[in-house]
Amino acid sequence: MEAVRIGLCGVGTVGQAVFAVLERNASEITRRAGRGIDVSVVGMRHDRDDFDPAPVRVERDVLAVARDPDVDILVELIGGVTTARELVLTAIAEGKHVVTANKALIAEYGNEIFAAAHEHGVNVAFEAAVAGGIPLIKALREGLAANRINWLAGIINGTSNYVLSEMRVADREFADVLAEAQRLGYAEADPTFDVDGIDAAHKLTILASIAFGVPLQFAAAYTEGIGHITREDIAYADELGYRIKPLALTRRTEQGIELRVHPTLVPARQLLANVDGVMNAVLVHSDTVGPTLFYGPGAGGGPTASSVVADLLDVVRGITAHPNQRVPHLAFQPDALSDVPFLPMSEVSSAYYLRIFAQDRPGVLARVATLLSEQKISIEALIQKEQAIREIDEEAWVPIIILTHRVKEAHMERALHAIESLDETRGRVMRIRVESLDAGL
Ligand code: HSE
Repeated sequence: MEAVRIGLCGVGTVGQAVFAVLERNASEITRRAGRGIDVSVVGMRHDRDDFDPAPVRVERDVLAVARDPDVDILVELIGGVTTARELVLTAIAEGKHVVTANKALIAEYGNEIFAAAHEHGVNVAFEAAVAGGIPLIKALREGLAANRINWLAGIINGTSNYVLSEMRVADREFADVLAEAQRLGYAEADPTFDVDGIDAAHKLTILASIAFGVPLQFAAAYTEGIGHITREDIAYADELGYRIKPLALTRRTEQGIELRVHPTLVPARQLLANVDGVMNAVLVHSDTVGPTLFYGPGAGGGPTASSVVADLLDVVRGITAHPNQRVPHLAFQPDALSDVPFLPMSEVSSAYYLRIFAQDRPGVLARVATLLSEQKISIEALIQKEQAIREIDEEAWVPIIILTHRVKEAHMERALHAIESLDETRGRVMRIRVESLDAGL
């Protein structure tokens, strides 16, 4: 059978790794696919010092690759959403299949892209968009297809996990570690996407749709970054038996679906709490199999290329299948997606870690406890460090650390507002959510 022809657009770290693995593992790939997979054209807007695809043809205008008659499958690795969207929609309209690693594109424009793909009878594969080299989409969409998925929670941004891990283990400053993550090539072109939780929210949006069979709704994601986490909080969390992790969590409840990314205290005994550095891991809780954990490298050329090439193989094997017999893009048939609403954050319940900077004098703690109890918030643990006392205007001030039981976010907001309004407290209360990650979450 003739080889399948690839148009490879974007030859940065991932594109170069895809090009290399298709060449290096060509014979294994052909044995798996039943036919060869050849790159027939490379779309690169300008010459690069680090890559020359010769003798493969180069096209400067990436949109021309989408229209090229010598291309059967377009691989989109240019990133961003504007040109990438046009490129992917053009390829689909030309009847070409698409493989992409672009999480922002799928999270924000996936509904439109899948509808176009459905109309034109082509496939859009995006395994590499979530958790780099971990075959998570395949597992959720196919391996767990017997299950009703209850929730999933994971570390799906390597850069922010690397930053928090290094701050804890090496007691280093945030900015210093982030600069290193950029140097090592883990971070997005704009690293605020990593540390503000946007990258993880893109990935979580995709996972939630596949887990629950709902349309992609990136705008419904609650996103909170790790920029305000201090080494002090990391140390207090340790003392209480927790690690602070950049968690992405989606859960089906009777009222709707939770979709949230925020730093979270996770019990140190949980496997997820021990996923450090740039590694990713996702814990999925399903009704039939119970908990399953997926772990691996979530960023970098090799791991991402591993998923891109696996997608290529899948697409090649499915080329001759009738479109209705292919695995649906969002795991459920397009006309069977559900309209379950996503919950606003004020309706979400979680336990909390609070750090309150308060005057060290009789009655202050009682006042704080009263304000919490007025919102029906019960305290699980409390620490106050005598050695942390600071003298300000001849008064002693001290951090009070409180762990609470689960409470609705709206109640916690009201309690925090009241605590911050006390004369005996200063500044904003540091508030970090706590998740046990046990079966019932
Ligand atoms: N910047 C991303 C991360 C790369 O740090 O996880 C993979 O999407």
